[in-house]
Amino acid sequence: MDAIAIIDFGSQYAHLIANRVRRLGVYSEVLLPDASLAEFKKYKGIILSGGPQSVYEHGAPTIDPKVFELGIPVLGLCYGHQAIAHLLGGKVTPGETKEYGLAKLVLLKKIGIFEGIRDHSQVWMSHGDTVTKMPPGFIHLGKTDDCFYAAMGDPAKKIFSTQFHMEVTHTQHGMEMLHNFLKICEVKYEWNTEKFLEQKIVEVKKILAGRKVFLMVSGGVDSTVAYALLSEALGTDFVYGLFVDTGLLRKDEDKKIEIALRGLGIQNFHIFNGRKRFLGALKGVINPEEKRKIIGDMFLKVQAEAVKKLKLNPEQWVLGQGTIYPDTIESAGTKYADKIKTHHNRVPEILELIKKGRIVEPLAQFYKDEVRHLGEHLGLPDEIVWKHPFPGPGLAVRILCAKKTEIPEQSADTQTSINKYLRPWNLEGTILPIQSVGVQGDSRTYRRPLAIWCGRHSFDKLEQISTALTNRYWELNRVCLLLTPGEIKTCEVVAATLTEKRVKVLQELDDIVMNFIEENGLLREMWQFPTVLVPLLINGVKKEAVILRPVCSEEAMTANFYKMDFDLLKKLTAKLKPHVSAVLYDVTNKPPGTIEWE
Ligand code: XMP
Repeated sequence: MDAIAIIDFGSQYAHLIANRVRRLGVYSEVLLPDASLAEFKKYKGIILSGGPQSVYEHGAPTIDPKVFELGIPVLGLCYGHQAIAHLLGGKVTPGETKEYGLAKLVLLKKIGIFEGIRDHSQVWMSHGDTVTKMPPGFIHLGKTDDCFYAAMGDPAKKIFSTQFHMEVTHTQHGMEMLHNFLKICEVKYEWNTEKFLEQKIVEVKKILAGRKVFLMVSGGVDSTVAYALLSEALGTDFVYGLFVDTGLLRKDEDKKIEIALRGLGIQNFHIFNGRKRFLGALKGVINPEEKRKIIGDMFLKVQAEAVKKLKLNPEQWVLGQGTIYPDTIESAGTKYADKIKTHHNRVPEILELIKKGRIVEPLAQFYKDEVRHLGEHLGLPDEIVWKHPFPGPGLAVRILCAKKTEIPEQSADTQTSINKYLRPWNLEGTILPIQSVGVQGDSRTYRRPLAIWCGRHSFDKLEQISTALTNRYWELNRVCLLLTPGEIKTCEVVAATLTEKRVKVLQELDDIVMNFIEENGLLREMWQFPTVLVPLLINGVKKEAVILRPVCSEEAMTANFYKMDFDLLKKLTAKLKPHVSAVLYDVTNKPPGTIEWE
């Protein structure tokens, strides 16, 4: 199959470039710069990625200049652009102006990668060094305010390069430019999911050579797709899937996954029921971090037990993992996802497999969008393929626990001051007698939420007010809008811990919410939608209150609360109201709030 090589000079975007090329229908692979010329010759085009170093520094990554004589088209991006200049007789120097962020590209010649591209379009820059002299034979193709040689090329040799990153979405016409490069490569558009599957099946069979695979299935899209793919490749008898039911999952989650997998003809799927053990260990625990630790430790224990029974002899077994590309770079994925992954791999039998290099990670080169596409292709249902991320500790971090005595006294002055602040907006509010986790100034906070009501404001306005309030009053890290009619006259906190009964209550509420957003086509608009149970009896109603926390995010490090249509929200509130004392809507971004409440 025709393929494009992406040379990774240490950029976080190298795999993103590969992803973009595949999206355009052409197979691509990421190679290290020291690959041999014979290796490079296999490709129809070569893209040099960005990288954190300076090309002129001693020891900076480089490539054999003979690559440019192979007659294979080359595209250099950022560091790749500078590497081309440096290696072919141009000059790179530390820039007088460092350029980060958006810039306008002035096109001087619309040829090669710029054919048909609109002038003055937005491009995304991130560089300190600058090309100050082009190599002989190169034509100056584009500039920005702060970067004279923003683009250059030697059309006869089919070498083009840009200082900006055309692989990121902030570069308006990046995909078209990449597409133009693929045209220059005269490459066949042969890449699709079927091809990938065929290829992976061959590859996986070769690596495994008759051994069996053990895989922990979390129910999330990555591990489920990896499991389905391996089962398809090897036959279901050769892939043992283990799912630990902590009892802290969404309603019927175990059944849904089982049905989905069995629907694909996968039989070798095993559920370990740990419900009693997990809830038993969490009895009486209030502190969120303590809950997390107990769950993590218990997870290891039950996993170790289940794995021991299997007697995973490393000669016969390989460990399967649903690792996807962002999991392997520090800045992407969620900071917690890593922790949970280590949990999965820390029991001695599994460590032994890892030590012996007995690991197969069929999705390791891919991004979430590709994994989802593959899941669809493998026949997994939408509710698995488009599933929101779900935290390892599950509903435990969405069921607030409290001891009445531990709620810090609030100062009457603060409440008075807040009331005064809210008045011009025709809003009223009360500081709730519970605490939730937040993140302010890079550290975690454990502070109080403010509930507000009255005043008919748009979510945009509420966002401004919420931000102003959390900036102004350090006691607060969240603001919630009361959705149920009326006001909060009384609010009593009740002592509460994690019990089966409370888990059931939240499972039902969460089920109502998730069904509602699915029925209304909102599932894909959000990153996650936690529903949170809080031990507050509002206005004397002897039921707990619920908080809705839908968010939009790219990778969970920051998030914005989702601005749901008010009419829809009214309908959702009506469905929840009979089960709770009040329904609130979290109107806090991250920071200062976290996505989860604990
Ligand atoms: P926060 O609440 O910190 O969450 O904004 C960011 C993302 O991480 C998920 N999350 C967890 N995932 N174990 C996990 O596997 C955890 O302990 C955990 N805590 C939060 C959260 O759902 C969100 O996607």
